[in-house]
Amino acid sequence: MKLYIPAAYGIEAAVKREIERLGFGHAPAVRGRVELEGDWETVARLNVFLRAGERVLLGVGEFPATTFDELFEGARALPWEEYLSRDSKILIDGKSVKSTLAAVKAAGGVVKKAILGRLKEKLGATAFPETGPRAVVGVSIFEDIVTLTLDTSGDGLHKRGYRVLTYDAPLRETTAAAIIEDSFYNREKPFADLFCGSGTLAVEAALYARNIAPGMERKFDFAAWKCTPHGALERARQEARDGVYTGPVAPIFAGDISPRAIQIAEEHARRAGVKNDIAFSVRDMREFASELGYGVLISNPPYGERMEKGADLFPLYRDFAKVYRSLPAWSAYLISGYEVERAFGRAQKKRILYNANIRCGLYCYFGQKPPKNP
Ligand SMILES: C[S@@+](CC[C@H](N)C(=O)[O-])C[C@H]1O[C@@H](n2cnc3c(N)ncnc32)[C@H](O)[C@@H]1O
Repeated sequence: MKLYIPAAYGIEAAVKREIERLGFGHAPAVRGRVELEGDWETVARLNVFLRAGERVLLGVGEFPATTFDELFEGARALPWEEYLSRDSKILIDGKSVKSTLAAVKAAGGVVKKAILGRLKEKLGATAFPETGPRAVVGVSIFEDIVTLTLDTSGDGLHKRGYRVLTYDAPLRETTAAAIIEDSFYNREKPFADLFCGSGTLAVEAALYARNIAPGMERKFDFAAWKCTPHGALERARQEARDGVYTGPVAPIFAGDISPRAIQIAEEHARRAGVKNDIAFSVRDMREFASELGYGVLISNPPYGERMEKGADLFPLYRDFAKVYRSLPAWSAYLISGYEVERAFGRAQKKRILYNANIRCGLYCYFGQKPPKNP
């Protein structure tokens, strides 16, 4: 089966590395999605283990179309009866880029009609009550090539299940995980987020340190489909449970000036099963100090788009830079829409990421490397 993992802009590399680490080898990234071949065990493992990918789509077919007739015929020729039942609740998620068929809603309607026509013929179905398992069909048209997919994840993979409360301007879990994946962080190094808000970065760091797969206890749409081999999801979950690391983890600090934010972050950490790994505190970041060396500071400070609109943020960033410089040999990774370099100086690495559709920079400052063990 052909599988596609959509990844947000700037996050493809992290997804590719995760896929390699899961043992699936090199997977190319094409137009914002990482592609690989696999079976149902692969689908289950990707859904359970991926931290940075957005969802796992199964490719049902690809064909050129510039008219609704071609779209209908192309969609009808595909083996939908292998995946869908007569009671499947079929939803359409469409998009069209640089294509003749630009009316996405109409194109979605044509594809659904073609699928139902196919099911009628192959399954002898006469009525489609849509009371059964959900199946989201992706209709993606790019330069007149149609790709039809089934969304095996259902809810996006950023929905780990722990973030039930909201505080201002949260970072997407998959973005947080990708930044951690791209950083020098590992469980032997101290970690700090001094602007933790609802706790996303600290919780994702702790999940990473403990090797807790984000989808270990979550539901996925594919598990309810008739085509899924019995036990595939349970096997992946068991593999994840067996892999959880229970040994020592270097301290993880999460601070925020707002008591409400810390209350929310603690609740999220509790739900994620990592509350005991994180030292939370209500404090102004200016009061943070550490004697531990070679730590990793990953933060998403306020930047005036969604919060503190109009405020002059320079003093905050200047003081933050001072705190960072006082930390012995720490690295810092800052995601912000503010020009961080005005206060921190030139970043050693910088790239663009989007958070809630706001263009941000990820600014990386590397501390000294720890001495090698003789
Ligand atoms: C963009 S939000 C962080 C969102 C977080 N990454 C999440 O996923 O929920 C910035 C946070 O900085 C906090 N903050 C603002 N000024 C601060 C300061 N001087 N010290 C510590 N925290 C501060 C705010 O209370 C807010 O929670």
